Amino acid sequence: MKFKGMLILEFSKPLTEEHNGLIRHVVDELNNNILVKGATLPEEAAKVVDFRIEDGKLVLNLETGRQVRIHSAAMRIKNYVAKIFGSKLKVGVRGLTLKDTVIELDGEFSVSPKIPLIRKLLVDEGKTYVYLDVMDESVLKKPVLDRLIKLLNDKEMRAKWKGKAEHWQLIKRSREKEPLFKEDPNKIFEEIGWIKRFSIGQWIYTPPAIYLINMIKQLFLEEVVKPLGFEEVVFPKIYPPEIGLKTGHLKGTINSMLFASLPISYDISAFEELIDYMSVMNEVPQEDLRDYLRPPSYFLCFAQCEPFYQFFSGEIVDDRALPIKWFDQSGPSFRWEAGGLHGVERLIEFHRIEVVWLGKPEQVVEIRNQLLERYEHFMDKVLDLEWRWAWVTPWYLEHAGVIEKISEEINRPGTIDFEAWLPYKGSRDDAKAWLEIGNISIHGTKFTDPFKIKYSKKNVKLWTGCSGFGVERWMLVFIAQKGFDPENWPSKPREYVKKNPMPKSLLTVTYPKTKEGKELLKKIVDLYSNP
Ligand code: SER
Ligand code: ZN
Repeated sequence: MKFKGMLILEFSKPLTEEHNGLIRHVVDELNNNILVKGATLPEEAAKVVDFRIEDGKLVLNLETGRQVRIHSAAMRIKNYVAKIFGSKLKVGVRGLTLKDTVIELDGEFSVSPKIPLIRKLLVDEGKTYVYLDVMDESVLKKPVLDRLIKLLNDKEMRAKWKGKAEHWQLIKRSREKEPLFKEDPNKIFEEIGWIKRFSIGQWIYTPPAIYLINMIKQLFLEEVVKPLGFEEVVFPKIYPPEIGLKTGHLKGTINSMLFASLPISYDISAFEELIDYMSVMNEVPQEDLRDYLRPPSYFLCFAQCEPFYQFFSGEIVDDRALPIKWFDQSGPSFRWEAGGLHGVERLIEFHRIEVVWLGKPEQVVEIRNQLLERYEHFMDKVLDLEWRWAWVTPWYLEHAGVIEKISEEINRPGTIDFEAWLPYKGSRDDAKAWLEIGNISIHGTKFTDPFKIKYSKKNVKLWTGCSGFGVERWMLVFIAQKGFDPENWPSKPREYVKKNPMPKSLLTVTYPKTKEGKELLKKIVDLYSNP
């Protein structure tokens, strides 16, 4: 990696030829000292290759390497020249611009991102040349070029791997369990009226559906979350975009995020035309609506742990509070899924218990491992499911090299997906018959760095972890494997039904819709009437 460019410094008074001697001295000092600091090899440092005075300005041609990149070199030069010229000539630096900048990258890049800074990209004999627009100090003092190079490398890597699935490695699975049920509970829930479609990917859950969901939630809280000392908090469910920039979601998953806008004004008269239109036409003019809204002010809850990092942002946390173990079950998450929606299997609005923790690295790993132990007990014993766990890593984050022991391999940042078999979708050998019902992650410093969450002692960085428990999906897989009859269920859910009577199902002239639905409802309700 190399950089070339022309740095132009403008001063409070024009320079003339008489300053040549001083400039030569300054350039020597730059080349021998200032611009080589921090570089292990001369070609990795920066160098002023020549200079001239033009229209009273100082023009320096620069060539730099990877370790003192051209924007850092420009700032070092500015600071040094300002110091010397200030004391020797009593002139100050008025402005600085970098022109004709070219980044030379090794390899022939196929990607060509469209961003204002890039003028053109040329590929020639194993190299890629990135020609940049003129940059001023406001750009040079930020690590914009570093980010640009990272973006190019990331995009190139993604393009190369296009079509390859994420890395998926089975790490544990339950024994095979003979399913007690083969039908699709989604269809039955709808047919007997326990859930009713509201809009795409959204359902209204009637009391018996919530009864089943609450059973699963309560068992999870009692068997997994609370024994480990996690405590309940309430997190907001709409987030300012800056938070999504820090978590990385706006860069990684913007295609499945939902956004919300504030109205254009608090003054109702600003909406008069719109209101008049709706009054007369009795329809919502979707396109015009945009004119009455501000640009998106929020994105809707996506990962559900975002507020956890924001809470601790800028805080210095010490051992009195660590580790911090919280959970939130206060509201929905939203994910726009294109196509493939089916019952409560894939939803746009879904509910989740989000478990979050913050601590020193060894604490975060230990908590994740304690959770895994309880999760296994929950899946295997409490719900008696057929399940499997996989270590999943986006291919571009997967480290090269072979790691021998799984137990060592998973005690590091990364994600484990929990999956369960849906017998109604096919045999257990069919990948499509497995549904992700949750996950658990160690993030390392992925969030503590951008949110500036600090430990009280300098030498240790804090880590975070989170685990998402999608309640509709857990309920679905339980019924899909065990069926509706509590007689066939394992002891803990069966006890729940004994202790808690199921609420009445809705039955009206038109609801459930079909005669078959009404009959099936009666049969299912009977299963719960005398547990
Ligand atoms: N926040 C994590 C996720 O979005 C776990 O729920 O996957
Ligand atoms: Zn999370």
